[in-house]
Amino acid sequence: MRLNAYLARAGVASRRKADDLIKAGRVAVNGRPGQLNTFVQQHDVVEVDGKRVEKQRLAYLLLNKPRDTVTTASDPQGRTTVVDLVPAATRVVPVGRLDVDTTGALLLTNDGELAHRLAHPRYGVEKTYVVEVEGEPTDATLEQLQAGVELDDGATAPAKARRLTKNVLELTIHEGRNRQVKRMLEAVGHPVTRLHRSEYAGLDVAGLEPGEWRELTRDEVERLRHGS
Ligand code: URA
Repeated sequence: MRLNAYLARAGVASRRKADDLIKAGRVAVNGRPGQLNTFVQQHDVVEVDGKRVEKQRLAYLLLNKPRDTVTTASDPQGRTTVVDLVPAATRVVPVGRLDVDTTGALLLTNDGELAHRLAHPRYGVEKTYVVEVEGEPTDATLEQLQAGVELDDGATAPAKARRLTKNVLELTIHEGRNRQVKRMLEAVGHPVTRLHRSEYAGLDVAGLEPGEWRELTRDEVERLRHGS
């Protein structure tokens, strides 16, 4: 694989930042300066600033994100991050984000290619939310959510919406705009009081307590890769 991809898989930096390290002459392969077009093979020794780095095994974790955790790798305010909740050695990062007060299914991986694909709007990954709201949405409100509602960054795409109890809905969307569910519900007059993502790309957090995580099975990873 190319040197920048190897450095990304070693958890050193993103591919773009790895290119900067290579250009700055900080990367050596078998003791010689690495180049942007250097290919790394199985027995090659890669060093950054004189320290050996090694490609990591790909890891795919599904976390049941608890409340009051932030979906970043590090938080300047020192709050607990989702990355703090999984083993540090895996060097995974979250795919997409959930608000600090949102709970539920969050995928973390060090497979940059898959993460990029899943987060891209073009792939329309399905996300299902259990949404507790103020008031009691009517059938007409559910139909509005299904048809798409007007937000300040444009109308939302058709969604699936059904009532679970008087003030709890299940909403499935394919987009991933910032605070989308909360904004959709605000737009129809029912501010969200609690938000939980029960499923992400067909993966659910059944059996996981808040803060618990599990590794995806090989089949689940294959399904994500092939988009089914
Ligand atoms: N929509 C929101 O409003 N918040 C989330 O955390 C996820 C989706």
